[in-house]
Amino acid sequence: MNLLVIHGPNLNMLGKRNPKHYGHLTLQELYETLSDEFPDVDFSFYQSNYEGEIIEALHEVFTENFDAILINPGAFTHTSIAIRDALEMIELPKVEVHLSNIDKREDFRKIDYFKDIVNKRFMGHQLDSYIEAIAYLLELVA
Ligand code: DQA
Repeated sequence: MNLLVIHGPNLNMLGKRNPKHYGHLTLQELYETLSDEFPDVDFSFYQSNYEGEIIEALHEVFTENFDAILINPGAFTHTSIAIRDALEMIELPKVEVHLSNIDKREDFRKIDYFKDIVNKRFMGHQLDSYIEAIAYLLELVA
């Protein structure tokens, strides 16, 4: 499976963010752990703090050979209709992942512009949210 993994703003700062919500792993360590856990998955990792760059990374899906998309949009989850529109165009299997449980935090995090356009959401289990999401995608594309 060729999997595009997209991370939104501030997720490049994992390791420095509140460990209660986000754990202790850096983004690089997260990438390495996922690559070790799923040696047969061909990962393309992308992170940006900029909304337009994430939109352009999603547009590139139309000229690349991906089988599925995993996105953690960070705070753009709660604000970005533009990223939602870009993701909605893509007909591949797609999952939304969060380290923390956005439904059990501040009210503003309960707004999720992606939840009805993804195949499934995985959240609240830190690293395991990703592992569960990738296992789900592997079954879906098999
Ligand atoms: C997050 C949750 C968002 O509310 C927050 O803005 C993030 C990370 C998560 O993985 O739990 O940056 O997407």
